[in-house]
Amino acid sequence: MSEHRRMQSAPRLFIQEVAPRDGLQIELAFVPTARKIDFINGLSRTGVSKIEVTSFTSPKAIPALADADAVMRGIERLPNVIYAALVPNVRGAIRALAAGADELNIVMSASEAHNFANLRMTMDQSLGQFREIISAAGGRPAINASLSTTCVCPLQGDVPAARVMEIIAQFVGMNITQVTLCDTTGMANPAQVQRLFDAVLTRWPKLLLTAHFHDTRGLGLANALAAFQSGVTHFDASVGGLGGCPFAPGASGNVCTEDLVHMFDAMGQQTGVHLGRLVSVARHVPDMVGHDLPGQLMKSGPATRRYPMPA
Ligand code: COA
Ligand code: ZN
Repeated sequence: MSEHRRMQSAPRLFIQEVAPRDGLQIELAFVPTARKIDFINGLSRTGVSKIEVTSFTSPKAIPALADADAVMRGIERLPNVIYAALVPNVRGAIRALAAGADELNIVMSASEAHNFANLRMTMDQSLGQFREIISAAGGRPAINASLSTTCVCPLQGDVPAARVMEIIAQFVGMNITQVTLCDTTGMANPAQVQRLFDAVLTRWPKLLLTAHFHDTRGLGLANALAAFQSGVTHFDASVGGLGGCPFAPGASGNVCTEDLVHMFDAMGQQTGVHLGRLVSVARHVPDMVGHDLPGQLMKSGPATRRYPMPA
């Protein structure tokens, strides 16, 4: 852990729910707009600090989120929750601004191959879109830059930390103050994560850095713990473990929100999330998407659960 972080005494953690976007984008059956809105309204009451409501992408690329405008306009807004939207290009940013998103989560990849597969742009073209979006936003909603495939690209292989740092330096040069580092297909390991997040926070201690992990190989919580030990306080997660990028081969769900909150609660960390309410929301998700989910806690109950003595 970098020295400045080590000196902080147990900072509170911020849990950012991404299931309505990263979770639902991969689902084949379209979840009706009213049901998405109810889902998000339920999540708003769990104590998560941010909800990624939807993405303003091409409806041909992501048909599951073709109702982004109606969802963003239809949800209840609680004052202590940031309602963010993912945007891949200027067109998406203009739609998100018109629909009243609190924050634009602009996205590109740390590898050319995934950037092209996902966004049909070179990385330079994506950086060009970022500049235009920042100028179109005019400082009104917050801007967060998400960088996909930060440790490993499923198409191109390992992405060196130095390359990730170069891209973050470009973000910082655009006055971006919030960055999310994503392990899009759950290929990173805790040692890699800790090296990368240590390096980033040592170079940019004031950067608001979010860790975004997928649990594709069962390493989601281990990677989140490694990022926490580097001093990260903001974590993306998806209720029930729903999710994945449709343009990344082998993608699967994000680290599960209630499993992550349970881990931090058990460690005595403050997340601000009400675990019971979160589990109640999680238990409705299999019915909403029509299949079982990988989340463990909603099946097992918390570690404080006690069983009667077997007869
Ligand atoms: N919102 C709505 N429609 C959009 C759009 C946006 N943000 N951006 C482009 N479009 C439309 C265009 O109008 C065009 O429509 P048409 O075929 O009816 O004329 C069509 O999409 C293609 O536009 P084009 O500019 O040629 O884009 P493209 O086909 O090169 O795709 C993206 C580029 C970025 C729009 C597309 O790849 C995309 O939406 N990707 C999202 C990927 C994603 O969300 N991945 C998961 C999360 S990381
Ligand atoms: Zn993701």
